[in-house]
Amino acid sequence: MKNITPIETLAWKNLKNHFQDIKNVHLTDLFNTDQDRFKHLSFSFKDKLLVDISKNRITYKTVRLLLNLAHDMHLHEAIQKMFSGISINITENRPVLHTALRNKLNNQIILNGFDIMPEINFVLDKIKIFSDQIISGKWKGYSGKRITNVVNIGIGGSDLGPKMVTDALQAYKNHLNMFFISNIDSTELFQLLQKIDFETTIFLISSKTFTTQETMINAKTIKTYFLKKADNIEHMDQHFFAVTTAVRKAENFGISKNNIFRLWDWVGGRYSIWSAMGLSIALSIGFTNFDQLLTGAYDMDVHFKQTDFNKNIPVLLALIGIWYNNFFNTETEAILPYDQYLHRFPEYIQQSNMESNGKNIDQNGNRVCWQTGPIIWGAVGTNGQHSFYQLMHQGTKLIPCDFIAPILSHNPIYNHHTVLLSNFFAQTHALAFGNFFHKKNSNLSCIHGIKDQYIEKFKFFEGNRPSNTLLFKKIDPYSLGLLITLYEHKIFTQGVIFNIFSFDQWGVELGKQISQSIYSDFIHDKCSLHYDVSTQGLINYYNKYTK
Ligand code: F6P
Repeated sequence: MKNITPIETLAWKNLKNHFQDIKNVHLTDLFNTDQDRFKHLSFSFKDKLLVDISKNRITYKTVRLLLNLAHDMHLHEAIQKMFSGISINITENRPVLHTALRNKLNNQIILNGFDIMPEINFVLDKIKIFSDQIISGKWKGYSGKRITNVVNIGIGGSDLGPKMVTDALQAYKNHLNMFFISNIDSTELFQLLQKIDFETTIFLISSKTFTTQETMINAKTIKTYFLKKADNIEHMDQHFFAVTTAVRKAENFGISKNNIFRLWDWVGGRYSIWSAMGLSIALSIGFTNFDQLLTGAYDMDVHFKQTDFNKNIPVLLALIGIWYNNFFNTETEAILPYDQYLHRFPEYIQQSNMESNGKNIDQNGNRVCWQTGPIIWGAVGTNGQHSFYQLMHQGTKLIPCDFIAPILSHNPIYNHHTVLLSNFFAQTHALAFGNFFHKKNSNLSCIHGIKDQYIEKFKFFEGNRPSNTLLFKKIDPYSLGLLITLYEHKIFTQGVIFNIFSFDQWGVELGKQISQSIYSDFIHDKCSLHYDVSTQGLINYYNKYTK
């Protein structure tokens, strides 16, 4: 990766000047003066997806200057490096090769002198064989019954992705009941244990490192309960599986070698659904559908790698995000899916974006003096409309957002989907144009009928609130693969331009270490007084009720 300070590039300086010209320009004027704006600023992808960026506070000049920034930051070179397997995860000394997991071309990808594709294909075959056996009922539990429940035990990237995808693709789901347990909170475990029968349940211990506290404790407790019921350690072979890089650790836990699905350290946790971490996905929707997810991802990879930046969807979305985050000083980005199946999508993107680009040190080791990753949040529409949209329309904050919806519903009941999409289109329109559009173009009585000038002030929508619209034909495995990958590459692009390392996550370590030290104090009944007075005071209060 080239190590360049973004704010020192000519493009950044030009953008700064340009911002002064554009900061007060209203979207209404941009649209009124250019009837072709939608035509020029919307992009379709293989007749599956339409992305409209026209409702952004940008001109063609803004786009040109942002593209110059991508050029000045050597984005093209960075993309080639990632795909080639060069170690771009410098602080962990690893390549970043989740793209190899969906390499449908199956061309060689050489790492340390070896082609990694045969190993990837071997694990994919293993996933296929195993998922076929479970789904068909050929694989039996220890008492000879068919498997009906699958429990994924994992957290972070080993949970959020598989959970989000299995939910999003419920329309493709088979008879298996899927459960995900991540939290160390025993309430989650308690609730799970009410729902499953050990004789018909398999457990996937999904942990890249096989050391993560939450996953290991949950797995151990479940193993204990299982053995109480099954009463024979050998029965574990029919019920316990691991997805991990740490094969030896999984074996030590008691998992049979054949039940281990390998992962590699060049797959980042939050980018791992394409690997065996997606085993629960393959079990839930079958391998053929899982493979379609990979195909969608691959097609977006090809688009990202080969398309000129001025038509490159992830690159354009990334640049627009930087424009708001760094020039308009917006702090957040909202992800607003108008499809119940995508209800976990904001949470999923929250991890992949915030864990990747939530960094304040640049590649030089210096503290950055520009904004890096935004705060990602969101909720499924139309629920959000009756909650936080008030602030989006009339609050003091500018919140760029992505509206995502399928044209066709999997469950078309009466007029529901038409009403849903009417809301979807209405919101981006209202955010962008506020009352202005209707004052000029309609005689909506609710606007013109207001006598009281004072009250009118409260009913005023200033508009000029930007959004991207991502419109899909249907949420199917292929389209979901496209969508997830689009965001992965958006995040990558932003990381390159921020000049940070997007593929480590040192920021999660300190809390883990301190919690271990506090826990150790608890179990040794020590009160070591090495915390600040607030933390110590809270621990003392807790101790009063537990000792
Ligand atoms: O919270 C940090 C993290 O390392 C994530 O990046 C990762 O997805 C998660 O923990 C789980 O890690 P593992 O798969 O090793 O259990």
